[in-house]
Amino acid sequence: MRCPKCLLCLSALLTLLGLKVYIEWISEPRLRKAYPSPRSTPLQATPESWEPTLPANLSARLGQTRPLPSAYWNQQQWRLGTLPGGGDSTEAGGCRAWGAAAATEIPDFASYPEALRSFLLTAACRHFPQWLPAGGGGQVASCSDTGVPYLLLAVKSDPGHFAERQAVRETWGRPAPGVRLLFLLGSPVGRGGPHLDSLVGWESRRYSDLLLWDFFDVPFNQTLKDLLLLAWLGHHCPDVTFVLHAQDNAFVHTPALLGHLRGLPSTWAQVLYLGEVFTQAKPLRKPGGPFFVPGSFFEGDYPAYASGGGYVIAGRLAPWLLQAAARVAPFPFDDVYTGLCFRALGLVPRAHPGFHTAWPAGHSPEPCVLRDLLLVRPLSPQDSIRLWKRLQDPQLQC
Ligand SMILES: *[C@@H]1O[C@H](CO)[C@@H](O)[C@H](O)[C@H]1NC(C)=O
Ligand SMILES: *[C@@H]1O[C@H](CO)[C@@H](O)[C@H](O)[C@H]1NC(C)=O
Repeated sequence: MRCPKCLLCLSALLTLLGLKVYIEWISEPRLRKAYPSPRSTPLQATPESWEPTLPANLSARLGQTRPLPSAYWNQQQWRLGTLPGGGDSTEAGGCRAWGAAAATEIPDFASYPEALRSFLLTAACRHFPQWLPAGGGGQVASCSDTGVPYLLLAVKSDPGHFAERQAVRETWGRPAPGVRLLFLLGSPVGRGGPHLDSLVGWESRRYSDLLLWDFFDVPFNQTLKDLLLLAWLGHHCPDVTFVLHAQDNAFVHTPALLGHLRGLPSTWAQVLYLGEVFTQAKPLRKPGGPFFVPGSFFEGDYPAYASGGGYVIAGRLAPWLLQAAARVAPFPFDDVYTGLCFRALGLVPRAHPGFHTAWPAGHSPEPCVLRDLLLVRPLSPQDSIRLWKRLQDPQLQC
């Protein structure tokens, strides 16, 4: 070596570099170590308030101004003080009366799709008991017994989706510090379907992670899972920091999601409603599809809302959302309804480009693509397991 000074410089430089790497390594939260977190999104300023509020008159908040459309939902919302059966009332009569009135007051009710008619008839009935397996057991522990989670993974699942649930348990929902997994299900005693009660009862005792309620698990009853979870949180897990709402065919990059949540400014974190946000959605008027909404039921645009495929809310909003829900007229789609409740509270959803709730079917994302994402759906149980394994591979190079 001709130049001893260069050698000195070089070794000093290498030492510094090593030191920098070491400092970064120890300051990185452990869960993010496995793979880098998604590229960070620029923080947009928000004009909305940092705290939820619930005014006595929600009309202006929900965009209800004169002249008021004659559609049933709009009229109900205009008049609504509280829902029958809301608050502490547990009588079934009151809530059924709401549905009976809807059936007589909507002129073309008889021409509504059957699922929508069933929904309206019982939409104000929101108190259902938990469904417990016949042989006992299957109780879900309170957070005071398991430790208060930082992130609760609340996964909506259908009683028959055993493989989907098992794939979640073995992959992104597996036990991790500060993370708790719960599945939200309706009754396994299906309407005209096979009786799954003994199988689901066994699963419930085996894993103690099924929150089951005694109502039919059909698409238009999914809002019940949200509302009953909010009530459950109030009693059993009031201090949870964040709740991820997801479907059982989602794949969540849990370590990256935790990294993102931990990095949020606290003003955001306190009122978080994060996901893939639709801001300009309108009701579909073509009869036949699952999202058809008749003009005599609802007029106007949807509120900005996060796709129900997967979104995160701040746990401290649970009691606020319940109060809002008692004063927002029933709507058949769970994610639109959540958007309405947030709007009633004066809070806006935040978009994150890492949520993909309509990933092209049959195209499982490459691990290197997924490293930059937070949530992808739908994925089959097999694809989820394959992807999780590849993400864990220390040899993975991107
Ligand atoms: C509620 O607010 C709307 C719009 O601001 C207003 O037109 C309506 O009269 C109010 N209703 C009541 C009961 O105060
Ligand atoms: C939701 O579940 C309740 C209770 O089982 C049932 O009466 C109602 O018809 C269900 N809703 C729909 C849309 O089927």
